[in-house]
Amino acid sequence: MNKILLIGSTGQVGQELLTTLAPLGEIIAPTRQELDLTQPKAIAELIATLQPNIIVNAAAYTAVDKAEQESDLAMAINAEATKSMALSAHQISALLVHISTDYVFAGDACKPYLESDQTQPLGVYGHSKLLGEQAIAQNCDQYLIVRTAWVYGSRGQGNFVKTMLRLGAERAELKVVADQIGSPTWSYDLAEAIAKLVKLKTSNLPDQTIPSGIYHFTNSGIASWYDFAQAIFTEARQLGFPLKITKVNPITTKDYPTPAKRPHYSVLAKEKYSGFVVHPPYWRDSLRTMLTEFSGK
Ligand SMILES: NC(=O)c1ccc[n+]([C@@H]2O[C@H](COP(=O)([O-])OP(=O)(O)OC[C@H]3O[C@@H](n4cnc5c(N)ncnc54)[C@H](OP(=O)(O)O)[C@@H]3O)[C@@H](O)[C@H]2O)c1
Repeated sequence: MNKILLIGSTGQVGQELLTTLAPLGEIIAPTRQELDLTQPKAIAELIATLQPNIIVNAAAYTAVDKAEQESDLAMAINAEATKSMALSAHQISALLVHISTDYVFAGDACKPYLESDQTQPLGVYGHSKLLGEQAIAQNCDQYLIVRTAWVYGSRGQGNFVKTMLRLGAERAELKVVADQIGSPTWSYDLAEAIAKLVKLKTSNLPDQTIPSGIYHFTNSGIASWYDFAQAIFTEARQLGFPLKITKVNPITTKDYPTPAKRPHYSVLAKEKYSGFVVHPPYWRDSLRTMLTEFSGK
């Protein structure tokens, strides 16, 4: 039976992984109090003690704007802690599964990013995540890095869907950025995709296993934040969420300055993933499912 160490199980994606990884083995899920990622020695000690054969890292420093001011902390958690996991995983021949981001790219492409495309992060968060990816590739053999983007879900702290539902209940009008394009991705679909990749990677049948490397996974289809907001309000209204909102106004990135620059184009090519597994669900279908669950209907 697999022994799975799940790091970051209290996060938006980590909470879904508790469900999707459960059929694959015994899960050990330390909290931040039990494993603080700013303490690399603690990571090495825990992995050496537990001897898991699979390590899934869903933890990260994810405050994109704050990272511009807290670069040491972002680097410690996203780069140095990830390197410790990679070294420890290698020592015990465990599989390391890690989540990364579209923010490793500059976002100036005009076609979906391939796993092999040139990286060029625009800010501290993206840079720290890229260093984490590189530390894994350089220090362990058995790994899966799953890059994703625009994640939302009913669990964990804030995300775009929860923010829109809150603002839409308070205000009649909202302004939302319309010149950034991506693929909204439900945290449950991502967690399920990760579990499917882990299952393939640990398959004992040589013709079914998959190579170590980077895999892109988001829901399929594309939208701007403005399209996404419109879809949230349309679906939420049909489900009876209390909404005051009557109008969403499209604005440009220039009208909504943030401390960290955002990629304009965040669409990830998913052919590598779908070649081994199945085509990811369409983003709008998953949004409807998530909101239906969230409404308790
Ligand atoms: N959200 C997105 O749109 C998005 C997009 C692309 C990629 N990603 C990537 O997807 C992964 C999961 O993101 P998420 O949205 O689920 O993040 P999240 O909700 O912010 O969760 C982050 C997790 O990391 C843990 N953590 C943070 N600092 C820690 C520390 N010093 N020691 C131990 N644990 C620590 C948190 O623990 P606490 O609960 O104790 O704080 C939490 O479990 C991350 O790798 C992220 O970079 C996310």
